[in-house]
Amino acid sequence: MMETIGKHIVRIPVLDSTNRYFMDWLTREEPEEGTIVITDRQTSGKGMDGNAWESEPGKNLTFSFVLYPHFLAPDAQFYLNKIVALGLSDLVSSFLPGQENIRIKWPNDIYINDLKVAGTLIQNGIKGSVIDYAVVGIGLNVNQEAFSGAAANPVSMKIISGKEFDLDTMLEKAVEKIEHWYDLLKKGIKKDIDEAYLGRLYRYQQLADYVYKGSTIRAKITGVNRYGQLVLEIPGEKIIECDLKEIACLTPQPP
Ligand code: BTN
Repeated sequence: MMETIGKHIVRIPVLDSTNRYFMDWLTREEPEEGTIVITDRQTSGKGMDGNAWESEPGKNLTFSFVLYPHFLAPDAQFYLNKIVALGLSDLVSSFLPGQENIRIKWPNDIYINDLKVAGTLIQNGIKGSVIDYAVVGIGLNVNQEAFSGAAANPVSMKIISGKEFDLDTMLEKAVEKIEHWYDLLKKGIKKDIDEAYLGRLYRYQQLADYVYKGSTIRAKITGVNRYGQLVLEIPGEKIIECDLKEIACLTPQPP
């Protein structure tokens, strides 16, 4: 049921970055909403914060799609992060039945236990008081069996389950799950989105160590504010609200 997302799929065997391709395309044309660009081999994948996204050719999903969420004010753009993360966590859960610990690590990584299985890079274009377009780029580690040391705590669905997954089926289901949450957002059902997001948030309400503006703090995540900043409480001290650049999570590293 590819209603909007995935109605048109552009497959390009080798590409530097599916997000970069879309950003270029949007300077010339307006591809139909939901159009997907997918590649088997991404040679210069972009992660958040300027990091590179590593993916072994032909093993994983690396794709982007475009949305035109004109109904959304720029200061509500974090809802796009939320709906994509919810869709992706639904997807991973549906393919890994019995796996309890599938979480959203703020802002929109998908974690299984303490390991990252998927990342999303959303690039928004703002025009006046609305979001003109959003390019949503997704990297989901599916069948890759080993990662180079450069990537931070990666894992794949195959490493977790021992099983090989069909990438076309995975893509079809991914967009179905994301579209479900995008529909709720279009209908303005933000409360359900907020509750589901917090309910799946990695380390929500748990005390843990973080590096905040250069020093280690012990704090617990208590929410996400309306701008999408992470809200943490240092018990007995203060509440802090921070952007991605200001906080790092001391995730336990695998042996
Ligand atoms: C992150 O976790 O840092 C975000 C990773 C996003 C990677 C995907 S792969 C497809 C799309 N094209 C890119 O260049 N990046 C995104």
